[in-house]
Amino acid sequence: MRITPTKILNAIIVMILLSLGVLIFQNSPNVTPEGSPFRQTCHMSQMFQTNLQNLVHLSHKILETLNLRHFLCYSSLFGQIRSSSILPWEKKAKLCVINEEIAKYDELFLRRRFASSGLNLEYNSSDGKYTVTVDDRSTGGTNSTFDADFHGELHLIVFALDKDIRSSEERMYHRIGWQRRILPPDCDFSTTLECFPERLAHEPLPLKLFGDDTVPVPREGFELLKHHYPENWWREVKPLNC
Ligand SMILES: *[C@@H]1O[C@H](CO)[C@@H](O)[C@H](O)[C@H]1NC(C)=O
Ligand SMILES: *[C@@H]1O[C@H](CO)[C@@H](O)[C@H](O)[C@H]1NC(C)=O
Repeated sequence: MRITPTKILNAIIVMILLSLGVLIFQNSPNVTPEGSPFRQTCHMSQMFQTNLQNLVHLSHKILETLNLRHFLCYSSLFGQIRSSSILPWEKKAKLCVINEEIAKYDELFLRRRFASSGLNLEYNSSDGKYTVTVDDRSTGGTNSTFDADFHGELHLIVFALDKDIRSSEERMYHRIGWQRRILPPDCDFSTTLECFPERLAHEPLPLKLFGDDTVPVPREGFELLKHHYPENWWREVKPLNC
């Protein structure tokens, strides 16, 4: 075999491509806090999943008595559609709520209402979401809904309707929170507004089985997921979490 300049050049190009490939592979973002890569999707225990669903059911009852619209969204909606339950690897359940309704109550009132059912409620104004957790004092008792070592969270993600934000003449809900205030009011341009059409949240909302009880879901089945996961709403994306 004769060594020609072309062959040397080809060999160099192949080596550069190979080392680039290795570099890209090594810089994969799936790394544990300890620095080793996440390799698989771990399921949460059956106990955790049941507790997390109970947290959703109890919060659903509270929001219902307050007449506040709410429905499963993001990964929790995905789980409901897939298996009528939380996804087995999910650590945080998600309900979407409407700003125009929840803003009628002051935060202290809402906090007290959740506290009377043994739940903590915390608002993050930067991200526009409430985090619901179980008060430690109300877990583990013989008549408690929750196990003592349960530390799951439910997020109530706040969406608002804005007369300036529309898409092909339809009004759109968008996420709030001051970290989004500076964004141009345009759903396609500012994807972190996570817009969806008004009609998907029209009352009455359908009730669907989620674990062993029913919870409201948005209208039109998968449609909300198409807006929140435009690239991959049709497939299951398992997080590498252990
Ligand atoms: C609020 O949410 C943002 C974005 O998720 C986060 O960076 C911030 O630490 C949160 N603030 C509090 C007080 O939890
Ligand atoms: C358990 O039940 C008793 C009596 O019905 C009640 O007084 C107590 O508050 C309950 N505890 C919890 C944690 O719900």
